[in-house]
Amino acid sequence: MLIVSSRSALLSVYYPQIFLILTSGSYLALSSVVALGANIICNKIPGLAPRQRALCQSRPDAIIVIGEGAQQGINECQYQFRYGRWNCSALGERTVFGQELRVGSREAAFTYSITAAGVAHSVTAACSQGNLSQCGCDREKQGYHDQEEGWKWGGCSANIKYGVEFSRRFVDAREIKKNARRLMNLHNNEAGRKILEEHMKLECKCHGVSGSCTTKTCWITLPKFREIGYILKERYSEAVQVEPVRASRLRQPSFLRLKEARGYQKPTDTDLVYLERSPNYCEEDMATGSTGTRGRLCNYTSPHTDGCNLMCCGRGHNTHQYTRVWQCNCKFQWCCFVKCNTCSEKSEVFTCK
Ligand SMILES: *[C@@H]1O[C@H](CO)[C@@H](O)[C@H](O)[C@H]1NC(C)=O
Ligand SMILES: *[C@@H]1O[C@H](CO)[C@@H](O)[C@H](O)[C@H]1NC(C)=O
Ligand SMILES: *[C@@H]1O[C@H](CO)[C@@H](O)[C@H](O)[C@H]1NC(C)=O
Repeated sequence: MLIVSSRSALLSVYYPQIFLILTSGSYLALSSVVALGANIICNKIPGLAPRQRALCQSRPDAIIVIGEGAQQGINECQYQFRYGRWNCSALGERTVFGQELRVGSREAAFTYSITAAGVAHSVTAACSQGNLSQCGCDREKQGYHDQEEGWKWGGCSANIKYGVEFSRRFVDAREIKKNARRLMNLHNNEAGRKILEEHMKLECKCHGVSGSCTTKTCWITLPKFREIGYILKERYSEAVQVEPVRASRLRQPSFLRLKEARGYQKPTDTDLVYLERSPNYCEEDMATGSTGTRGRLCNYTSPHTDGCNLMCCGRGHNTHQYTRVWQCNCKFQWCCFVKCNTCSEKSEVFTCK
């Protein structure tokens, strides 16, 4: 058996049990994973909801891309919240694979929206690059002229509809309990995907002698995921609190309405929604998904949330001194080497008590 090395690390993140197989010395390639039988792989991924397992079995090639997409979402979450008390840590890597968060906070809302968007983004990119067997570029408008703008559709338009639909089928399938959090999670998943869809870009190329642009072809491309990260972060800060509404005699909540509004005002499609107020994330509390800030790096001079005052929640900080050494004043000597001095500087880092 053989494993594609660049992907084995990823597999190890997502599928700890597969990693055990790998570290015992055998290697397993993606292609042979497929050949080996999706059954084996899909049964080894912990925490898959039944419909996710079924989708894994019918599309084992896509499961890798889904994993990469979810990781992309989590990486972006960690980047966006790198200066926050909550740094995206407790919500874990396996949030798309069944395991549900037991909290209905704003932070959970962000996590769901960014992983759903991450999966849609990765699947769409994989389609464009020909990495998935059942999709490719979106050829729907190929060859048509845009009369008003005077250009022609060409190139490889990103098949965002496919990516979004795939994310919907896989990511949403983990919501099996019929409760208010399901409605919240599904709403936030959809909001993340919708925001991605709304930020697709048009890219064009001119044809003609020396860029004269006598004809122009255009296609749709994916935005950088970083851009989606910033937009979702903004949505996070404007997230709205909702409460479930039960339709008459049915026990199960059937939709969400804004909590502090009169009547039955619903959130908009791209609002992030939450059910419960967030903890302050100062102390460790697994029930709320808080890891606390003990041991976190803080910035002594910053007035923001990364400043020691706010980050350490008034507990104070430890100071660690160290000497930073680097090469400096480098001069080119004839011929041919570079001569440098060694510079050093005393420096300090601070961590929360
Ligand atoms: C497509 O496959 C190539 C080769 O395996 C890989 O380098 C690339 O990252 C993949 N692209 C996506 C979007 O998954
Ligand atoms: C988040 O904070 C915890 C401690 O509170 C730390 O262990 C972890 O490494 C941090 N994660 C990131 C991605 O910075
Ligand atoms: C600490 O915060 C100050 C003020 O916001 C900023 O200028 C400085 O670059 C920060 N230092 C580090 C190490 O991030």
